[in-house]
Amino acid sequence: MSENGKEKFGSHFAVIMALAGSAIGLGNIWRFPYIAGEMGGGIFVLVYILCTLFFSIPLFVTEMAIGRSSGKSAANAMYHLSGKKKFWKYAGLVMVLCPLVICSYYSVVGGWAADFLVKACQGAFGNRSSQEVSEMFGVLISSDIRPLAFHLLFMGLTAFVVMGGIQSGIERFSKYTVPVLFLTIVFILVYSLSLPGASQGVRYLLDFDIHNLTPKMISYAMGQSFYSLSLGMGSVITYGSYVRKKENMLQSSCHVAVNDLFFALLAAFVIMPAVFAAGLQPGAGPGLIFQTIPYIFSEMSAHLPIISAVVAVLFFFTILMAALSSAISLMEVGAAYLVETTHWSRRRISLILFLCLGFLGSLCSLSFGPLSQYKIMDMNFFSILDWFSSNILLIAASMLSTVFAGWIMKKKDFYDELSSGGMYSLNAKVAPVIYYTIRYVAPVIIFVVLVSNFI
Ligand code: PHE
Repeated sequence: MSENGKEKFGSHFAVIMALAGSAIGLGNIWRFPYIAGEMGGGIFVLVYILCTLFFSIPLFVTEMAIGRSSGKSAANAMYHLSGKKKFWKYAGLVMVLCPLVICSYYSVVGGWAADFLVKACQGAFGNRSSQEVSEMFGVLISSDIRPLAFHLLFMGLTAFVVMGGIQSGIERFSKYTVPVLFLTIVFILVYSLSLPGASQGVRYLLDFDIHNLTPKMISYAMGQSFYSLSLGMGSVITYGSYVRKKENMLQSSCHVAVNDLFFALLAAFVIMPAVFAAGLQPGAGPGLIFQTIPYIFSEMSAHLPIISAVVAVLFFFTILMAALSSAISLMEVGAAYLVETTHWSRRRISLILFLCLGFLGSLCSLSFGPLSQYKIMDMNFFSILDWFSSNILLIAASMLSTVFAGWIMKKKDFYDELSSGGMYSLNAKVAPVIYYTIRYVAPVIIFVVLVSNFI
């Protein structure tokens, strides 16, 4: 289906699935549980929910509005709508660079998930001591060829879907994977909650220790909420440009945010009970899911060998699919921009992106092994990219899009987008609330988060 000669998503369902596919990813399964663990459990979850409702949803609709109104890729959208002001051209380039950087290291984690899926299929978590299983992750990331090969495989799959374009690539992939993601995570949840000692993990997630409410925690909650909803990364703007004019954007944004939030909570309730059941530390950091979950599978394999083997495969399959649909939306930002500016074929652009991002990601992958002695501020290359892109670039880019929507974009255009030209009267009533939040409140809050990330 196309509008003004541009390919669009085929239906309301497709819009939600594509955007949910972008939003639901490693941020939900991998990042959210370990940050919630490090930041003190329940109170973090509460602040996270509030941030999502009051800031991330308005920002999400705003980015969709920028995308749809301009009909352009993220880099050119603001430039185009600002009447071709140079500043917005460069601001747009930040929005392209950031997702591509993230895509490179994201693919490394996707590669780990692929490796663990292969391990699960081989039944590698059964018949081994728990110690051996917990050490598997360290062994994997510190080796050279294997994680590199899986990272390149993951990047190749991502480029393959991006090459397919909007409807035959992205839409078709997300329409099937997102529902499957929900089904599998619910299945694993039941399993995780039935583990002995699981209740401690549940209590941890519901524990409201007010002492954990610090500015740092609030800034992490906000950053995580932006990350999880793919904000500040050009993905929402780019996908917004594939949305038809009659789509109710406010409604679809709320659907996506609720799906994403729900999935993050489900993931946390899968991981934390398992962590406690295994007697491990909730604040174990990025390796949390790869160290704790296989441990659980190995423990369970003694009593329930078949079930534990099947759930292990399902679990890593879920992570892999969630990571893929997000990586696709990251690469698509660059692909859309390059196709638009160079007029080269999608095929050629996807190949170039595969080569460049594959190379950058390879450095990240090797930074746990052969390149591990090279550190900046005590962080390896992988952690530097993660920290810089998620805590600095992403927040800065979110600031740019709020300032743009609140101060540069015409108010009438913004209201028109939100209500699809007056077609949805409820949206027209809510539009001023969103507009003024974006204009006055959001920039101040985002600025505070940005500064606190430097301290
Ligand atoms: N939202 C994705 C996640 O939760 C990550 C992502 C960020 C994807 C930005 C696209 C753009 O994992």
